[in-house]
Amino acid sequence: MRALANGAEATTLAAVQPAFARAISPATRLCAVLGWPVRHSASPAMHNAAFAALGMDWRYVAHAVKPEHLGEALRGACRLGYAGVNLTVPHKSEALRLVDLADPVSTTLQAVNTVVFEALRDGEWTSPGCAGACDGPVRMHGYNTDADALLRALREDLAIEPRAARVLLLGAGGAGQAAARRLADEGVGELHLVNRTEAKAEALARELEAAHPAVDVRVGYPAGDIEIVINATSSGLRSDDPLPYDAARFSPGQADAAYDMIYRPAETPFLRGAKSAGCRTANGVGMLLYQGAAAFELWTGRSAPIDVMRGALEEEIYGGMR
Ligand code: ATR
Repeated sequence: MRALANGAEATTLAAVQPAFARAISPATRLCAVLGWPVRHSASPAMHNAAFAALGMDWRYVAHAVKPEHLGEALRGACRLGYAGVNLTVPHKSEALRLVDLADPVSTTLQAVNTVVFEALRDGEWTSPGCAGACDGPVRMHGYNTDADALLRALREDLAIEPRAARVLLLGAGGAGQAAARRLADEGVGELHLVNRTEAKAEALARELEAAHPAVDVRVGYPAGDIEIVINATSSGLRSDDPLPYDAARFSPGQADAAYDMIYRPAETPFLRGAKSAGCRTANGVGMLLYQGAAAFELWTGRSAPIDVMRGALEEEIYGGMR
């Protein structure tokens, strides 16, 4: 900072945010998250830190897009030369219907959280992106990086190998169904499904039994020990929420590890209880991080700087609480 004649202090951009000192130029490539609402998204902080760390002339912004405008927004971003976008609540299922092609995971999960815009060049669909002149054919390629992010979080943050593991999954809403389908696909050993509304867990179990006859799917609490209990319910987001399981029928001490998809607050009553029962624990920051890292790699073709992205996410989400 330097003092001006009038006593005020002029602040250089580099002094405020060294990571973003690089000027936006006509060559700057853009990515975005589309949501409604979107103002609490931590994704811009994570991706912009990654671009800055790798010295890339890219930016990631957030756009509030009403559900009825999603198609226009996607086609507009594609034509404007965005490299790609993320979709957050409530756009993931509608995005599956809007993209020109969808990868197998997003088709299985019926949800797209990442779109790569591709341009036809010399007869080939190329990515990353169609930044610059988009005067030829373009298409929207949908992916789902959320479900693999759960598997990666279990492996890297909790040292749990999902294949053949005994798993208790709490929740059969949108997040729970996606987790159950991906876990079954991965070949878990036992999948115990519990949901406050039992009929939803039963419907999910029937679907999984038909699609994955080799996986042992059961509705209800496990009788013995398991490797991992996962909270995919929304109970824990508010401080007065009840535990997402029935403490008379399940004790977290039955599990080696506990994963909570919730990341705000950092420690829910579910995770606190699991930690005091001796479980290894991790919250949903890992899922947010790994889905973002996979999207980053799809758009840029470069390895995501995981440590930088985790640091930026934690600063964005928990920085003010420290
Ligand atoms: P998401 O897309 O985040 O999964 P959702 O589809 O609304 O959101 O699902 C919320 C999940 O949290 C459901 O499994 C819900 O149980 P119900 O199907 O019985 O509604 C679960 N849930 C919400 N509040 C809960 C609570 N207090 N205790 C246990 N489960 C709860």
